[in-house]
Amino acid sequence: MQEVIEQARNAFRERYGRNPAVYGIAPGRVEVLGNHTDYNGGYVMSAAIDRVTVVAVDKAGRGQSWVFATQKGVEATFALDAIQPDPHDRWADYVKGVVVEMQKAGLPVEPFDAVVAGNVPIGAGVSSSASLEVATAMALLELHGASLPQWEVAKLCRRAENEFVGMPCGILDQFSSVFGERDSILFLDTRTEEHEAIPLPTGSFGLILIHSMAQHALVSGDYATRHRECMEAAAWFRERLGEHVQLLRDVSWEEFLQWESQIPEPLRRRARHVISENRRVLEGRDALHRGDVARLGEMMYASHESSRADYENSTPELDLLVKLAREYGATGARLTGAGWGGATINLVKEAQMEEFARRVGEEYTRLTGIQPMVYRCHIAQGATAIRE
Ligand code: GLA
Repeated sequence: MQEVIEQARNAFRERYGRNPAVYGIAPGRVEVLGNHTDYNGGYVMSAAIDRVTVVAVDKAGRGQSWVFATQKGVEATFALDAIQPDPHDRWADYVKGVVVEMQKAGLPVEPFDAVVAGNVPIGAGVSSSASLEVATAMALLELHGASLPQWEVAKLCRRAENEFVGMPCGILDQFSSVFGERDSILFLDTRTEEHEAIPLPTGSFGLILIHSMAQHALVSGDYATRHRECMEAAAWFRERLGEHVQLLRDVSWEEFLQWESQIPEPLRRRARHVISENRRVLEGRDALHRGDVARLGEMMYASHESSRADYENSTPELDLLVKLAREYGATGARLTGAGWGGATINLVKEAQMEEFARRVGEEYTRLTGIQPMVYRCHIAQGATAIRE
């Protein structure tokens, strides 16, 4: 983290000729269990990781606001009273979206200079986008001496993504980036907003992210399709079970089984995934409370199978990585995040981690010709802001 802050400071000095006043710092996340449950009012388990986006800011001495992204070497400039999305410059939309939502919430935003730096891998399913949103919000709040409760920060950033960027995501990524706790797995009930941090027995298990380096489709299009299908499935159950069914969260597994033969495809499979996944998350949470990491791992494998067969958001590469994970002794493994490419998350015994990472990596390359990216994830604290 320290070196990313250094990098942001140096880039800021180089571009604007002075030090920044404030740094917003926000981590990426891994989704441990609960695939596509969040926008269905369901349950998720996740963890913030020790990869961060840093947004260094200071008030600008001119009318325009400027943002420079060090990873991409590009900059965006805009006037605060005329902020528009830019289809050629999507990364800046995450920053602009947060500014727009802060304005809508009546929070102060004056023209600013900013630099974005980070080491959250992009496109790996660890939510570099949410970390950029949250780091921006943390930086701008601190810069203006404003504050918001943590939940409001997460929700504001989700609205930025839903409304400004146009991605109908749930709250998982922003929640995890804000609420992360060192060495703990987060549990969240997205309906009631009840959440807790459950310690992962340290010294015994760790998380390894393996990026398949293979993307299969335009994720945002598929994501929106699944979102729509889930809303249709909820409406189908609403007609039969009553108005209390707002989202698939409100349909029990027993009710699903009762109607399973009548609901048309593909809604049947989409609903089966979401409703069974909610049960797996609750089971996984209970297992972790008992210290039964093996059971949590079984839920992860079952989750992957459900995503693959019923939600159809896996890829042959992700399936292969999960198969290899099982062969080489991972306690649990599954795709993490939206899917249709990206990465798997692997729960591995501490003593086996190095060997596991090496063997799965080599075998994956031998079978596909693709070099995967393998990261050991250290579970880290959530977002913060510091003054220079
Ligand atoms: C993406 C979204 C999240 C969540 C996951 C799938 O990461 O941003 O809100 O829906 O996909 O579980």
